[in-house]
Order: sequence, then structure tokens, then C-alpha cells
Amino acid sequence: MMRTIAMIGTGYVGLVNGTCLAHIGHQVQCCDANLDKIELLQQGSIPIYEPGLEALVAENVTAGRLSFTSDIASAIEQSELLFIAVGTPMSETGAADISYVRAAAELIGRHLTVSKTIVIKSTVPLGTGRNVENWIRMAMPDPHIPFDVVSNPEFLREGSAVADFMKMERCIVGAIRPEAAKLVADCFEPLGTRTHFTSPESAEMIKYAANAFLATKISFINAVANLCERYGADVEDVARGIGSDSRIGSAFLRAGIGYGGSCFPKDTHALSWMADQAGYEFGLLKEVIHTNEEQKYMLLRKLVQALGDLHGTKIAVLGLAFKPNTDDMRDAPSLALIPALVAAGAHVRVYDPVAMTEARKWFGNSVEYGTGVYQTISGCDACMIVTEWNEFTSMDLNQVRQLLAKPIIVDGRNCYSPAIMQEHQIEYHSIGRTATVNTEANYNYIVS
Ligand code: NAD
Ligand code: UDX
Repeated sequence: MMRTIAMIGTGYVGLVNGTCLAHIGHQVQCCDANLDKIELLQQGSIPIYEPGLEALVAENVTAGRLSFTSDIASAIEQSELLFIAVGTPMSETGAADISYVRAAAELIGRHLTVSKTIVIKSTVPLGTGRNVENWIRMAMPDPHIPFDVVSNPEFLREGSAVADFMKMERCIVGAIRPEAAKLVADCFEPLGTRTHFTSPESAEMIKYAANAFLATKISFINAVANLCERYGADVEDVARGIGSDSRIGSAFLRAGIGYGGSCFPKDTHALSWMADQAGYEFGLLKEVIHTNEEQKYMLLRKLVQALGDLHGTKIAVLGLAFKPNTDDMRDAPSLALIPALVAAGAHVRVYDPVAMTEARKWFGNSVEYGTGVYQTISGCDACMIVTEWNEFTSMDLNQVRQLLAKPIIVDGRNCYSPAIMQEHQIEYHSIGRTATVNTEANYNYIVS
């Protein structure tokens, strides 16, 4: 059944959900406190790079199912379901900052004059659903009007967000009243997805536990990769070998320079903070975070091993976004690596297929901005691959060798086989595949 929906917060999650909910038949108003964002959307442009999204927005706006407004109060008054999809960034303590959620809840409260259902899409600490209920009620002109607060966490990945919504693997609905849970689940019914009905707290925990588990897989394989280097094993073979055991699964076993993005770093910290608050020592999670922090500098160590002192060197960095197919640079490994290269005295030229505008906000004049793969690496002493964009995984290696002043590639994403690099006479350093220490020394303890 078609529902009227107000999406409060039109960022990655709000824009994707608002658009996709409109596409499956609902009447959606996307609102945001950022007036520039709304204006841009009203003019037919979208503020983020997300494959397939711009066309889907246009299609649904034309069909009259999707609109954008900065008049959040009116959107609240006109809609049956109010989705909260505002940011919950990491605060200085590591906790999730839920001030934007509170502001949205209070605004809802001020305009709640008939019964409605409030759906929390944002990733929020356990117990926030109950707080949202209180914040709304305290702001209501008539606090006797009944309403429901339902937790419905989001699992989309940037770069494949539209497909993740349309082929949703599961829908989590955490509610107190079964009628409210059914109302929310029914919104996603056209997708034919499996719905898990839980308590609000369990739904909130499912989101954090899912992200923490995936982050654990990545830190685990990165630690194994570091050990592979010490014993001459190949982490790609190891990942394939363990991943084909269905109990382990092959996903999220790509070794690299650590996870980044707007979710894993902040959500692992937030869960760790929640554990501390509860007096529970979640040492495993703390180690996952620590391993990831260390891994971000792995590429720098390999570069220093290859070049020695970086002072006065020219280094090309390919890939700035935290993963391919997005321009999002929140907590991207490039944000740790590039300032460290600059601090070590290197002249850094950077390039990313879509994140250049975003990169200028972070790096200003501290780096040079390239215009394409080959122009970026030209004359450099080494090339570093930080994000596995297609452009970087399919380079013409003959040209690369000719253009680099020294034929050295330090690859944080294992985009090439060491054998191919050897064929092209390029010195190649990747993650978990090349022995960095005397493996014979390591084997000694086995034979002795
Ligand atoms: P975002 O920063 O891209 O967007 C948040 C938007 O909310 C911004 O446009 C901001 O202007 C707006 N906003 C803030 N306060 C507001 C208010 N009071 N009223 C109206 N608008 C307001 O954030 P995001 O990446 O979309 O994440 C949103 C939430 O979803 C977070 O809790 C995040 O953890 C979670 N999440 C994100 C992803 C992802 O891949 N980005 C995936 C799953 C879950
Ligand atoms: C993640 C979750 O996957 C998604 O369910 C949640 O809703 C939001 O957070 P996202 O951050 O968009 O999605 O991207 P994801 O594909 O999960 O990658 C996160 C980071 O992990 C990236 O930096 C990526 O490079 C890294 N990664 C991922 C690895 O290093 N190795 C892997 O095997 C997989």
C-alpha cells in the first residue's frame, strides 16, 4: 500500500532511501537542514556520486512521487511515516554524536498533532529509540497523542547503494507495538525481502554488530597478510582457501590498507564506547580498531623500504575515496597516508576519478592535483595505489614503466599479480604477498 513519507536528512542514506521508496510506489518528501543541498536537488543535480542514483531521482521526480523541500515542518505534517536519516558522526570520546537525531526528534515533536510512525534509519546507540520517544513527547503541544518509534537500521554500501536497496537481503524492524512493526515492514514489501522483527534495542545492536563483525574480518585478514609477508605465503591464496569454507565465507577477506568510510571506523568506536559505558571489556573490538589504525601506515612503511628517505621525492597517489564508485572521503585511508607523505618531505601528486573536488577540501595546497592516471604518475619516483578503481586496476604497464622516473609501484589493494609486474620489470610492493623479511630466518625455528 502506498504511504506518505517524510525523509528527514537527505544525505547518502536519506537520498537513496527516499528515492528508492518513491520508486517502489510511495509518496516521498526528502528534507534537509542544509538549504544548498535541497536547492541543488530541486535543480535536478545530486550532491553525491552514487552510480544509478541521479537517473532514478529524475525518474521519480518526473513521476511525481519524489520531491525535495527545506520546509521540514510541512513535510512532517503531511506524512504518515517520518524517517530520521540524519548523521551520527563520531564525537571526541568515540561515542556516536546523536545531537542531530535529537534535533530531528524535537522538530517532529513540535509538529506532531496527529498519530504517526517515526522510523529511525540512522545508526544510533542502544537505547536511542527510547530517548527519541521522550524527546518527541517533551516537545509535543499535546503529549497525549499516541505515536510509535521504530528502529529500521540501514545496511547499504556506498557505490552500490541503489542495488543494495532494490535487492535488500534483509530488513530489520525493531518495534514495541506489532502494528507499528508491520506498518514499516509493509513499506518494503514490494522488494520481497526477509524481515526480522525484534525489539528496538536488538535492532540497534544488529546494526553495530554487523559492522563490527565485517570490520573484524578485514582486520583479521590484514593481520594474516602481515604474517604472510613474514613467512613468504600469499594472502590472496590464503583468503581464497579459507573463504571457500562456507562457514567462513569469501566476502570481506580482501587484505589491504585498512577499512575506511563513514561507517566502520565510527561504528566500531561507538560500539567500543558503549561496551566501556556498560563496564564490559570488549578487547577483541579494541584490537580490531588498533590493527586497522596500524594498517593505514603499512603502505608508507613499504614506500620507505623501497625508496629510503622520502625527502625531495615525487610520489603519485592513485585513489582518494575510501573505496571505488564513491566520492566519499570520510575516514579514507588516503587521509592518513597523504599528510604523512607530505610530512616526510615528499612532493605528492594525487588523482581520483571522482573525488577531486572533495580532496581539495581536505588537502588544499599541500599536494598537486593530477588530471588522469598517466599524467599523475609521469616523472614520479613511485606510484601508490590506494583505491582499487577500475582505471587503476587496468593500467597499461608498459606506459607506466616508461612514465615513472623509478619503476616502483606500492599497491595497497593488491590490484596486480606480482608475476605480471616482474614481467614488466616494475618493482612491486603489495599487501601480504611479498616477503619483507628473511623468510629463512623465520623458518629456522621450525627446523631447529
Ligand atoms: P550524511 O552526512 O550524508 O547525511 C546526513 C544529512 O542529514 C545531511 O544532509 C545533514 O544536513 C542532514 N541533517 C542533519 N541534521 C538535520 C536535521 N535536524 N534536520 C534535517 N536534516 C538534517 O549521512 P549518511 O551517510 O546519510 O548517514 C546517515 C545515517 O545513516 C548515519 O547514522 C549513518 O551511520 C547511517 N548509515 C550510513 C550509511 C552510509 O553508507 N553512508 C550506511 C548505513 C547507515
Ligand atoms: C559498510 C557496510 O558494508 C554497510 O553494510 C553499511 O551499511 C555501511 O558500511 P561501506 O562503508 O559503504 O559499507 O563500504 P564497504 O564495501 O563495506 O567497505 C568499507 C571499507 O572496508 C572500505 O574502506 C573498503 O575498502 C574496506 N574493505 C572492504 C576491505 O579493506 N576489505 C574487504 O574485503 C572489504
